[in-house]
Amino acid sequence: MKAVQVSGYGGPEVLKIKEIPKPTPKSNEILIKIEATSITAASTMMRMGKPKFGRLFLGLRKPKVKTPGTDLAGIIEAIGSEVVNFKIGDQIMAETGLNCGAYAKYICLPSDAVIVHRPTNISPEEATGIIDGASTTLAFFTDQTTIKRDQRILINGASGSIGTAAVQIAKEMGGEVTGICSTKNKALVQDLGADYVLDYTKNEFLKSKKKYDVIFDTVGKLSYFKSKKHLKSNGVFLTPVMTFSTLILLIFVSPFSKNKLKFAATGLRKEELQIRDLIRVRDFLASEKLKTVIDRVYPLEKIQEAHSYVDSGRKKGNVIVIP
Ligand SMILES: NC(=O)c1ccc[n+]([C@@H]2O[C@H](COP(=O)([O-])OP(=O)(O)OC[C@H]3O[C@@H](n4cnc5c(N)ncnc54)[C@H](OP(=O)(O)O)[C@@H]3O)[C@@H](O)[C@H]2O)c1
Repeated sequence: MKAVQVSGYGGPEVLKIKEIPKPTPKSNEILIKIEATSITAASTMMRMGKPKFGRLFLGLRKPKVKTPGTDLAGIIEAIGSEVVNFKIGDQIMAETGLNCGAYAKYICLPSDAVIVHRPTNISPEEATGIIDGASTTLAFFTDQTTIKRDQRILINGASGSIGTAAVQIAKEMGGEVTGICSTKNKALVQDLGADYVLDYTKNEFLKSKKKYDVIFDTVGKLSYFKSKKHLKSNGVFLTPVMTFSTLILLIFVSPFSKNKLKFAATGLRKEELQIRDLIRVRDFLASEKLKTVIDRVYPLEKIQEAHSYVDSGRKKGNVIVIP
C-alpha cells in the first residue's frame, strides 16, 4: 500500500511516498481503509520537530514513527477475533495522537483507541477535518474553563482550524462570541455565527474597550499582558500554543494573577478524555450544530504541497488529503 514515510525532521521535502506492506489486524485491532486525513498545524510542527522539547515525545534525533498524520476518517475493512465494539463496514473517525500513521491507505488501531462511529450525514473529508479543531476546543472549554451562557468569549485566529470550530462551539454553549481575523476572512467568521468580528490587520481588538470572560488565542499571536486589560475580573486567557515566554508566564506570572493563563497539550491527555471529546464532536456533527470549514483537498501524491500550504499559516479552516 502507499504511505508517507519520513526519516528525519525538516521541511515538506522529508515527506516521501513509499510502497509498504498493508498491515494485518491483531486480535484486538481493527483494519481501517483511510478515506481522508487532515494536515493540521500540529502535524506540520511534528514534521519539523518543533518546539524542540516536543522531541522528548516524538523522538530525540528523528521521529519515532515513520508514517505521520494524526486524524482520519475511514471504513473498517477487517477486525481481530476479540473486537466487539466495531464491525466490518462501519464508518469511523479517529485520532491517533503520537502514534500517527494516518498518511496512508490503511491503518490498524486497537479497538479501544480514540475511534468513534462517523455520523452518516458527514463525509470523510468533513469528519477528519473537524477532529483537531473541535476536540482541542472542547478540551479547553471543558477542562481549562467552563463556558457559561451569555459569557463573552473572544476567539483569536477565528479563521483557522481551532478558530472555526471554537466560534461555533462557543456559540452553541450560549456564549456571546467575538472572532478576530483578517479583513478577507470576516464574512467566513460571521457565517460561522460570531456576534462580532474584529480585524487584526486594523488592530481593532487592542483599540477596543470591551472586556471578556474568556480569551482563546487559538494561534498564539496575542500578548497575555496586553490582553489582560480586556479580561473581566477572574476572566481566563487560553492558549494551545506553547512558547518559551508562555512557559515562563505559566510558572512565574499566572499563578499570582487573578486572570489565569492556561495551556494544555490536548493530544497528550488520557485516551478516555480524548474519546469523551471525540464523541461530543461526533454528536455536534450529527445534529448539524458544527460544520467543517474545508479550504483545500489534495491527493496523497501532493502531500508536500499540502504541507507547504499549511506551513504558510494562511489556511482557512482545514486542509484535507485523500490517500
Ligand atoms: N495544545 C494543543 O493541544 C494543540 C492542539 C492543536 C493545535 N495546536 C496548535 O494551535 C495552533 C493553531 O492551530 P490551527 O490549526 O488552528 O492553526 P491554523 O488553522 O493553521 O491557523 C491559520 C489561521 O490563523 C490566522 N492567523 C494568522 N495570523 C493571525 C493573527 N496574527 N491573528 C489572528 N489570526 C491569524 C490565519 O488567517 P489570515 O490568513 O487571515 O492571517 C489563518 O486563517 C498551532 O500552533 C497548533 O500547533 C495545539
